[in-house]
Amino acid sequence: MNKKLELIKAEALREIESSKDENSLNKIYKKHFKELSSIFSQMGTLSPEEKKVIGVKANEIKQAITISFENKKKNFTKKDKTNSEFFDITIPGKKTKVGHLHPITQAINEAENIFRGMGFSIVEGPELEDEWHNFDALNFPEDHPAREMQDTFFVKNEPKKRLLMRTHTSPVQIRYMLDNKPPYRIIVPGRVFRNEATDASHEVNFHQIEGLMVDKEISVANFKAVIEEFCREFFNRDVKIRLRPSFFPFTEPSFEVDMSCSECKGKGCSLCSQTGWLEILGAGIVHPSVFKNSGVDPKKWQGFAFGLGWDRWVMLKYKINDIRLFYNGDLRFLNQF
Ligand code: DAH
Repeated sequence: MNKKLELIKAEALREIESSKDENSLNKIYKKHFKELSSIFSQMGTLSPEEKKVIGVKANEIKQAITISFENKKKNFTKKDKTNSEFFDITIPGKKTKVGHLHPITQAINEAENIFRGMGFSIVEGPELEDEWHNFDALNFPEDHPAREMQDTFFVKNEPKKRLLMRTHTSPVQIRYMLDNKPPYRIIVPGRVFRNEATDASHEVNFHQIEGLMVDKEISVANFKAVIEEFCREFFNRDVKIRLRPSFFPFTEPSFEVDMSCSECKGKGCSLCSQTGWLEILGAGIVHPSVFKNSGVDPKKWQGFAFGLGWDRWVMLKYKINDIRLFYNGDLRFLNQF
């Protein structure tokens, strides 16, 4: 029995040492543990003297095997851990999603490039305006119904300088003329605000591009040439332009500008209500009072101004049928640009 115990010990330690993985190590340990158990169960047949000697030895061997088993096991778990931390630098990385400019902004950039090509500078102004720049200086009398058409959000009720969210980009004409000497050739892209009931073609905030060209001899013909060239480049096709008389307090004469329909090329369709024309902007010859309010002598200078509802332009270009799509952050829409 003594010899058998020595044999179990030698074999177990050797096998444990040379085991290759945790699974085979467990099997080896179980096998030798069983052998030891059968020795313990045979001890009843021994004399009390032998029992003492063999018992002590068997326990020593059991301990030695268990210690060797535990050590080896620790080794394996450590190795496994290093295995799981292994980092393969050759695996392609996960792609981070990259955003892009909003379609309105992309189109503004495009418009800026076209106007820059015709010698215009890009100017910006504040979205939070005061009543004087937004209305009075632009020749809207205090009680004129044109103010009502541009109902907006008044944010501070100061008696002399009432603040409001600008209803159009036209007040930047005043700001620019007060700060700079003519001649002028500017466009003003920006966000504007109105108190509107929202639907497919109305939003409480939207975009405009204002234009102003002032020099010694500027006529409606210059305006027509500039706007025709802009339409041609922006819509990338030949267009016809027509002017209809209209009213704006800050221009005289004033007109609405129509472009031949982009869908039916002027034949008449549902987009243009069978007229063949699409209304695309308001414009006119700068009113002498506006010049006076901006410190410019109306006897020396003349010019034209215009204002484009930019959201509508982008909707026409990309055949978008609801203005709200620009503002609800739906990625299924935005990802198409
Ligand atoms: N500011 C006008 C509006 O929002 C648009 C406009 C019309 C601008 C005629 C102009 C202009 O500069 O000359 O309705």
